[in-house]
Amino acid sequence: MPGRTWGASAPAKVILLGEHAVVFGKPAVSVAIGLRLRCQIRPGTISSLNGIPLGPHDHSYVSACLAKHNAPPTAVLTDSDFPSGSGLGSSAAVTVALLAALRSSKDGFKEDLVAREAFEVECEVQRRASPIDTSTCTHGNGILVQRERGENFLWEISRDTRRWCVHDLKVPKMTLVVGFTGKSKPTGPLVAKVKRYVDHNTFARDIVDEIGDVTMEGVRQMAMGDLEALGRNMTKDHKLLAILGVSSRELDKLVSSVLPYSYGAKLTGAGGGGSMVALTDQPQ
Ligand code: MEV
Repeated sequence: MPGRTWGASAPAKVILLGEHAVVFGKPAVSVAIGLRLRCQIRPGTISSLNGIPLGPHDHSYVSACLAKHNAPPTAVLTDSDFPSGSGLGSSAAVTVALLAALRSSKDGFKEDLVAREAFEVECEVQRRASPIDTSTCTHGNGILVQRERGENFLWEISRDTRRWCVHDLKVPKMTLVVGFTGKSKPTGPLVAKVKRYVDHNTFARDIVDEIGDVTMEGVRQMAMGDLEALGRNMTKDHKLLAILGVSSRELDKLVSSVLPYSYGAKLTGAGGGGSMVALTDQPQ
């Protein structure tokens, strides 16, 4: 990294359907939204984040990105339009933006390489992950992750026995409202909780399968521009996620308070806190 500043930014994302089940190889749909996280890097005397020295156990995503690139001491500066732990992909966005800046400082930015590396960093930090967050924050636009390769294929990512084909997804014009509970919950423990449930309970496995079916139905409804049906499926997905144990009192309250004005609503991201998303034509 020669003595100059490099920068990159990445968008926040909202998962419309399929979170958690996607970790087990089921499909998921997400969209990038107009909030961004910006990252700058320059050589430093020690590695730091926003002027504070990075200890070995601090900011695991940032440290893991620097380690992945064997980066010399680096000063990392970030600035974000959205809070961390809000379910909007802040970990994925900081990972993607930092890896993109590190790549640009060496041999240039390549989208699929950054998406792959960002997924590896998420797996390292979170232990289990799918590529939905990192691919959305890398590519932007709409993203469909599914097992089989389909139209508008971007890249394939696999880990252990699981495989995800990542696609660019055409998104119909729609209005989303995001409600943050104000409570931040790390993704790793929630993903682990669902895995324990699924490993020990066939009923939980059926719920994961059903989330997969609801998601594929939603993809077809999106293609037809049928927002009413898509919204109904989002609400159904919320109920299934609640059965998996990743909703919360605040999320359920947000969802039920917006439903009279929405086609549908659900938690988005890992849940436990974080945010709710509503699909509506009455955003006010
Ligand atoms: C978190 O935004 C989405 C999860 O499905 C985890 C993942 O896919 O890595 C809960």
